[in-house]
Amino acid sequence: MPGRSMWELVLVLALALPSTGQQHLEEAKRIMNSTPVIDGHNDLPWQLLQKFNNQLGLPAANLTVLNDTHTNIPKLRQGHVGGQFWSVYVPCETQNKDAVKRTLEQMDVVQRMCDLYPETFSCVTDADGVQKAIQSGKVASLMGVEGGHSIDSSLGVLRTLYRLGARYMTLTHSCNTPWADNWLVDTKDGKPVHHGLSAFGKIVVQEMNRLGMIVDLAHVSVDTMKAVLNISKAPVIFSHSSAYGICQHRRNVPDDVLKLVASTGSLVMVNFYNSYVTCSNKANLSNVADHLDYVKKVAGAQAVGFGGDYDGVTGVPTGLEDVSKYPALVAELLARNWTEQEVKGALAENLLRVFREVEEVKLSLNGTAPHETPIAFEELEGSCRTSYGYLSGAGTAQRPLAALALLLVLLSVLF
Ligand SMILES: *[C@@H]1O[C@H](CO)[C@@H](O)[C@H](O)[C@H]1NC(C)=O
Ligand SMILES: *[C@@H]1O[C@H](CO)[C@@H](O)[C@H](O)[C@H]1NC(C)=O
Ligand SMILES: *[C@@H]1O[C@H](CO)[C@@H](O)[C@H](O)[C@H]1NC(C)=O
Ligand SMILES: *[C@@H]1O[C@H](CO)[C@@H](O)[C@H](O)[C@H]1NC(C)=O
Ligand SMILES: *[C@@H]1O[C@H](CO)[C@@H](O)[C@H](O)[C@H]1NC(C)=O
Ligand SMILES: *[C@@H]1O[C@H](CO)[C@@H](O)[C@H](O)[C@H]1NC(C)=O
Ligand SMILES: [Zn+2]
Repeated sequence: MPGRSMWELVLVLALALPSTGQQHLEEAKRIMNSTPVIDGHNDLPWQLLQKFNNQLGLPAANLTVLNDTHTNIPKLRQGHVGGQFWSVYVPCETQNKDAVKRTLEQMDVVQRMCDLYPETFSCVTDADGVQKAIQSGKVASLMGVEGGHSIDSSLGVLRTLYRLGARYMTLTHSCNTPWADNWLVDTKDGKPVHHGLSAFGKIVVQEMNRLGMIVDLAHVSVDTMKAVLNISKAPVIFSHSSAYGICQHRRNVPDDVLKLVASTGSLVMVNFYNSYVTCSNKANLSNVADHLDYVKKVAGAQAVGFGGDYDGVTGVPTGLEDVSKYPALVAELLARNWTEQEVKGALAENLLRVFREVEEVKLSLNGTAPHETPIAFEELEGSCRTSYGYLSGAGTAQRPLAALALLLVLLSVLF
């Protein structure tokens, strides 16, 4: 009898003890209570445009009940999301058309989202603001401009977007701008035009350093990545890109670039999109952890982050169905023996470090004047654009045509 009840006790204990999987999940949630995830890229604003034409007051647009998106308020809470770069994405089709207007509208909808749900979101613009929002239990909300076409090749627009709250800009989306090449030039579907950055593209990067806007290299060509990593005074991010060493998709970051990420203190925020994770339309949580492991192995734990790309992609991995699932991914990292410090780095601290360094570079350049040289008029594309300012020849005097025009104007005034 005593023998039997002892075995019963052992059995009961074994059933009552949480499995290691459950233990890791509990541990993940404990860590995330103090260090919630700051994700690099979420396209909810694009969903709000597509579904509701940005009418947040529509009953169906209520972010508490919205249920056919990867993102809503209950899911953000379950997922321990403490910070989010909301993408103010507008498609490449808007280039040379209404890109600037539509970008402003996406920035407006993020701002209105913060205003409408103040108990959930806090729109912030610096690293201190992120930490304060997290401490008060809010989702720190930042804006990332996805594609250089959003500035229409204008440094004035770039500066204005910064003043309105944009804190990163992806230099291209999946199209070249007049000053930078995108990832498609590295595929059979494209040919390099600028072989990285044009002279004006380098000025854009310098101006972003001066402003304190993070440079984002998701979506750009490998030559653009290398050119930026070579000239940027501040570390950069890949807001939503995975590892080319695991899946040979050109949206991913190759090993030689990962080495530059390490040497510059930059950050790769791993994308969960199935096509970038496994190069197929099927993936699971463990496949994503493989990318995180890989970036850690090649570039170091300080170079790893999360950039789920939720609500911007058609297929997400089994186990990472929506933004409520980040703790499951963290549990997987713990199961793979990541230390608590490494996990906290990937969740938030690495991004905060990069953001603070970008802010310090801004401070160190505080005496520098804004770049004023406009892009050459001939480098602009599209036919619906006026040429005010260019006719005088200012800033383009080195160009024979402009010089000739100036001469003609002078002659006509004199005679
Ligand atoms: C959204 O719905 C919730 C639950 O029904 C409600 O409490 C809240 O007031 C609504 N918020 C807005 C902004 O409509
Ligand atoms: C999603 O929301 C719609 C309307 O807000 C509701 O009719 C539907 O039952 C909900 N679906 C689920 C699975 O909760
Ligand atoms: C990096 O910049 C230096 C000079 O600033 C230049 O000589 C070198 O070719 C550049 N490397 C790349 C990969 O662009
Ligand atoms: C995830 O997918 C891989 C194949 O890519 C498979 O080997 C592995 O067992 C899967 N893991 C889970 C937890 O389903
Ligand atoms: C994690 O560490 C434990 C204990 O040292 C070891 O048994 C296990 O194999 C390690 N797992 C991985 C994935 O490295
Ligand atoms: C630039 O920053 C330094 C250090 O913070 C400060 O001493 C200096 O006054 C600033 N210069 C300008 C032009 O703001
Ligand atoms: Zn993207």
